[in-house]
Amino acid sequence: MFKNQIIAITGASGGIGRGIAEMFIAEGAKVAISDLSLPSQVATEIGATPFVCDVSDEASVKDFIHRVEAELGPIDVYVSNAGVGSGNGRFVAAASNESWEQAWQVNVMGSVYAARELMPNWVKRKSGRFVITASAAGLLNQIGSASYSSTKHAAVSLAESIAIEHSDDGIKSNCICPQYVRSNMTKGMSMAEGSQDGLLEPKDVANALKAAIIADEFFVFPHPVVQKYFINRAMHPDAYLSGMRKLKAKVGQAFAKKG
Ligand SMILES: NC(=O)c1ccc[n+]([C@@H]2O[C@H](COP(=O)([O-])OP(=O)(O)OC[C@H]3O[C@@H](n4cnc5c(N)ncnc54)[C@H](O)[C@@H]3O)[C@@H](O)[C@H]2O)c1
Repeated sequence: MFKNQIIAITGASGGIGRGIAEMFIAEGAKVAISDLSLPSQVATEIGATPFVCDVSDEASVKDFIHRVEAELGPIDVYVSNAGVGSGNGRFVAAASNESWEQAWQVNVMGSVYAARELMPNWVKRKSGRFVITASAAGLLNQIGSASYSSTKHAAVSLAESIAIEHSDDGIKSNCICPQYVRSNMTKGMSMAEGSQDGLLEPKDVANALKAAIIADEFFVFPHPVVQKYFINRAMHPDAYLSGMRKLKAKVGQAFAKKG
C-alpha cells in the first residue's frame, strides 16, 4: 500500500516520529525525516533521508517540503508530528506568553504552514494524506498544561477541517490521539510511567496509524480506551470533569517537562 510512496515527517529525530518513519520504511516507502537539527544519525540507522525543519517558521516548513519534493519526489503523506508541551505551574494560566506562543506555533501553526503549502498541489493531483500527531489531550485534557491541552484541541480541529473540506478533492486526513508513549517528552514523567492505561512504545502508535489508514478511519486511537473516554466526555460532561479532578488530586501537577 505504501510502496515507493514519499513520506515526510516532522519532529522525527526520535520518539513517535521515528516510530512512524520506521513503519513506513518497512512498508517500502521513501521517508524524509526532519527535526530542529539534522537527524542524520537516525536517518542512517533507519534508512531515511534527513532534513532540518523548524515547524514554527513558515519559510523553514516551505523549504522542507520543496527540498523533499526535489530530492525524493512529490509528497504522498505528510506527518505533522513535531510537538512541545510545558507545565502551568500552580496556576492554570501562569505559564508565560512566550510558552503559550511556542505551543501555538509548534502544535498548530506548524500544521497550518504545511497544509497551506501542500493543498493546492494535492488538490490538482487529487491525492495526498495529511496526518497530525495530536494527542488524547486534544480530545480530553492534559492535567497541568492548559497550553498543551488547548493547542492539541486546535490540532484535532484542524485535522477535522482538512477531512471535511478536502475529502472531495481526494485528500485524506488522520488524527493520532495517544495517551502516554515512551519518548523524550515522557522521560522521567511519573504520570506517564505510572499511567493506568499503559505507557505505549512508538511502534504501537505507528502500527495503530497503519491500521487506521487501511481501515480508512480518521481517528487513530493507539490506546483504544481513549475513544470510550471521549464518548463519556460528550455524554456526561460533568461526570467527566469530576473524574478528571479526582485524577488531578491523585497525580498532582506532574506535567512539567518541555518537549
Ligand atoms: N509521548 C507522548 O506521551 C505523547 C502523547 C500524545 C501525543 N504526543 C505527541 O507526539 C508528538 C511526538 O512527540 P514524542 O512523544 O515523540 O516526543 P519527542 O520529544 O521525542 O518528539 C518531539 C519532537 O519535536 C521536535 N520539535 C520541537 N519543536 C520543534 C520545532 N519548532 N520544529 C521542529 N521540530 C520540533 C523535538 O525536537 C522532538 O524531536 C508530539 O506532537 C507530541 O505532542 C506525545
